Amino acid sequence: MDSSPVCLDDFEEHAVRVLAQGPLGYFQTGADDEITLRENRRAFTRWKILPRVLRDVSSCDLSTTILGHRISFPVCVAPTGYQGDAHPDGEIATAQAAFEMNTCYTMSTMSSKSIEDVSSAAPAGLRFFQLYIFKQRDITKQLIRRAEKAGFNALVVTVDVPFLAKRRKDIRSKYTPSPQARWVLCMPRGQAPGAQKIQHGTYVIENHT
Ligand SMILES: Cc1cc2nc3c(=O)[nH]c(=O)nc-3n(C[C@H](O)[C@H](O)[C@H](O)COP(=O)(O)O)c2cc1C
Repeated sequence: MDSSPVCLDDFEEHAVRVLAQGPLGYFQTGADDEITLRENRRAFTRWKILPRVLRDVSSCDLSTTILGHRISFPVCVAPTGYQGDAHPDGEIATAQAAFEMNTCYTMSTMSSKSIEDVSSAAPAGLRFFQLYIFKQRDITKQLIRRAEKAGFNALVVTVDVPFLAKRRKDIRSKYTPSPQARWVLCMPRGQAPGAQKIQHGTYVIENHT
């Protein structure tokens, strides 16, 4: 990056410069006409910060709690998959950053790094595990057990993906996550993918069971 990012848009501009078309489309765009993507951004603009003047601001505290855990400000990291396609450090760096900012990191089931590696990268960090419910319930069960063993504090269950959204950029660029980002499915480092595969929308996700 030429200069340090000042706001989130700066990260996006940087991504436009450094990422290949496939991953860029995945991280930058939304489904179909992107109506929800635009509406989500607009929703933030409807929040207003009410100024209060003539108050003692010598000590300001933005901290709050989530599921009983204190975080330093009311923003957490939502799950996003295949972060290894954005940077080789992938989810490890994101988990460490969330820990340094004293907020919660949510690790996606579709991560480029293993549950165990992400956990040991920020062992004292507050971390939730985002779970898809697989048709093969054994896979789901194994993911839950591993997340629990690795010290994740909660599950975030995603229920809106009975099939994958139609993401036009991904279709046009024929994007499939790179093997480095894709085959892991949060597997322990060094563990070879099993022969079985799960068909997940247009992506084929290796199954380690
Ligand atoms: C590039 C990208 C990847 C995502 N990957 C996941 C995922 O793996 N699991 C999940 O539950 N949600 C995933 N999401 C959804 C986000 O966690 C979030 O719910 C959604 O982007 C809406 O929040 P926003 O308006 O702040 O973007 C992803 C979103 C984006 C943009």
